[in-house]
Amino acid sequence: MSDECHLCLLGLIVLSSLLTGTSGVDVTHVFISSGENVRLPCNNALHDCTSTVWFYNRFRDSAAVELIGLGIKKNDTESHERLSLGSDCSLNINNISKEDYGIYSCRQHVNGEQGPDARVFLHILHVSSSSSSSSQTEISAGRSVTLFCQLYSDPGVSCDYWISSEGIQLFWVNQAGVKLTRSDSRYQILSSSHHCIITLNTTLLNEDHNREWRCNVTQRDQVKTSATYTVTSSGAITVIQAKVTVAVSVEHVFFFFLVQTVSIVFAVCSIFRKISQTRSNLYC
Ligand SMILES: *[C@@H]1O[C@H](CO)[C@@H](O)[C@H](O)[C@H]1NC(C)=O
Ligand SMILES: *[C@@H]1O[C@H](CO)[C@@H](O)[C@H](O)[C@H]1NC(C)=O
Ligand SMILES: *[C@@H]1O[C@H](CO)[C@@H](O)[C@H](O)[C@H]1NC(C)=O
Ligand SMILES: *[C@@H]1O[C@H](CO)[C@@H](O)[C@H](O)[C@H]1NC(C)=O
Repeated sequence: MSDECHLCLLGLIVLSSLLTGTSGVDVTHVFISSGENVRLPCNNALHDCTSTVWFYNRFRDSAAVELIGLGIKKNDTESHERLSLGSDCSLNINNISKEDYGIYSCRQHVNGEQGPDARVFLHILHVSSSSSSSSQTEISAGRSVTLFCQLYSDPGVSCDYWISSEGIQLFWVNQAGVKLTRSDSRYQILSSSHHCIITLNTTLLNEDHNREWRCNVTQRDQVKTSATYTVTSSGAITVIQAKVTVAVSVEHVFFFFLVQTVSIVFAVCSIFRKISQTRSNLYC
């Protein structure tokens, strides 16, 4: 090997160690419907969780709240009764409420040194109706009802951002799984992409017995979670009831740093190649 090649290799080693030092942002997006239980992964998990710290930021610049400190649950947080630490250092949250959205970070220490943070963005789907705040509503046929479906995420980030950067979509489907559109005269559908909310307004008919309207959240066309309203009627009473159904909801998103490392290595290598070509016609 030529001197240039040694130099090139040395450069790569230095560069990749620098990059591994900063490549520690590991981001996962988790989608869940309110009322469900969720498990947030600590992707840098060690075998024991005695150094595990979980903290929570409701939005990017808000103060962090420590939920778990060195493997032990803090008992002074709002959500502590619903929290537990999994044997793989994941954070379990029961009976998710729409206020639980935000950024959860898991940090561990290896030989006294702080490891990279594993961050989880928790997005919560919540449905409600115009006639009642509870999940079950009684309305009679001939009356109109508005069903709201909202995705709660970091409020410092416009929903338009999630739509464009993460390919997230929110829409209503009928029981055949087909998207309801504005062109269907039975339904009035309004959406605010800024607030991640989509509403469905319709007049209930007697034939709606057993009908389902479902609000789906998809990420890059894969269903992440959904919530359903079902209509049941007995005689004059029509009950419209929210029921939550969950699809696989965890996805790893950013391999950004890995890709960046590889492309920088290529760039550096080709520069060294050029140098060695011009100087001695030797390749690295
Ligand atoms: C929280 O834990 C501490 C120490 O374990 C204990 O002294 C305190 O009473 C607990 N507080 C509540 C509200 O349970
Ligand atoms: C879940 O939380 C809601 C309030 O957010 C509460 O009304 C309900 O009783 C809780 N369910 C369970 C099973 O604890
Ligand atoms: C739903 O649409 C109907 C018909 O346009 C309207 O009369 C009603 O006020 C709307 N309901 C709600 C709750 O917005
Ligand atoms: C909506 O979600 C349900 C349940 O996961 C699925 O069966 C249906 O195909 C989805 N529809 C669309 C258009 O994504």
